Amino acid sequence: MKRSPSDVSDHKVIHTDEVEGLDRYQLLTSLVVPRPIGWISTYGKDGVLNLAPFSFFSAVAASPMLVSVSIGTRAGVPKDSLQNILDQKAFCVNIVTEVQGPQMNETSADFPPEQDEFERVGLPIGLATRVNAPYVANCPAILECELFRELNLGNAGSLIVGEVRAVRLDPTLQFKEGSFLVDTKVLKPVARLGGPEYTLLGDIVVMPRPTLK
Ligand SMILES: Cc1cc2nc3c(=O)[nH]c(=O)nc-3n(C[C@H](O)[C@H](O)[C@H](O)COP(=O)(O)O)c2cc1C
Repeated sequence: MKRSPSDVSDHKVIHTDEVEGLDRYQLLTSLVVPRPIGWISTYGKDGVLNLAPFSFFSAVAASPMLVSVSIGTRAGVPKDSLQNILDQKAFCVNIVTEVQGPQMNETSADFPPEQDEFERVGLPIGLATRVNAPYVANCPAILECELFRELNLGNAGSLIVGEVRAVRLDPTLQFKEGSFLVDTKVLKPVARLGGPEYTLLGDIVVMPRPTLK
C-alpha cells in the first residue's frame, strides 16, 4: 500500500539561499555534530612545520583507505595546510584527544606560513615513515596520508581526499579481541560542536546491525 506523507510536521524551513555569511556556517556546523577533528600536520616551504585543526573532516572509504578534509581560503588565498598538501602531496592526521585539546585550539590561530606551530605551542615532533610529513608525537593515533584527489570548491577552498598509507598507534591503544577495533574509551577523542563547543565521549550505545531472515 502506498504510504502518504505525514502532515503533522511543523518544521520551520530555512531556505539556505536566504541565509548569509556566518549564519550559514553556524547553522550547518551546529547541526552536523559531533564532528571529528583532523589535526593536520604538513611541511611548508623550506621544510617549516605546519599544524592546524579541521573539523570538516571525515572517513570516506576503507579500500582504498580514504579520508577527506575540506580546507578553506584566507583572504582569497589557500590556508597554509591546503597549500602544503598540494605542494607536498602528503599530510598526517593526528587524532586529537582530551590532553591535546587546548594545544589543538591554539594551533587554529592565523599564524603566518613561516610560523612553526609545533614550536609555538610546544608539541613533540615525529617524522612519518611512509609519507613526507611530520606528526604530533604525543598523539595516540596518527594517519599518514598521501594526496589522492583534490576537488576545487571555488570560494570554499578545496576538498582534499587523502589515502591513508600507514596508521601509527600508541601501544596503550589495544584492539578489541579478535578484531582491529581500537578501544574508543581508551582513545578519548575530542569532537567539535557549534562555535567554541567541543564534546568528549558520552555513553556508548551498542546496536548490532540487523540481519534479514
Ligand atoms: C576545531 C577547529 C576546526 C576547524 N575546522 C576547519 C575546517 O574544517 N576548515 C577550515 O578551513 N578551517 C577550519 N578551522 C580553522 C583553521 O584551523 C584555521 O584557519 C587555521 O589557522 C588554518 O591554519 P593553516 O593556515 O596553517 O592551514 C578550524 C578551527 C578549529 C579550532
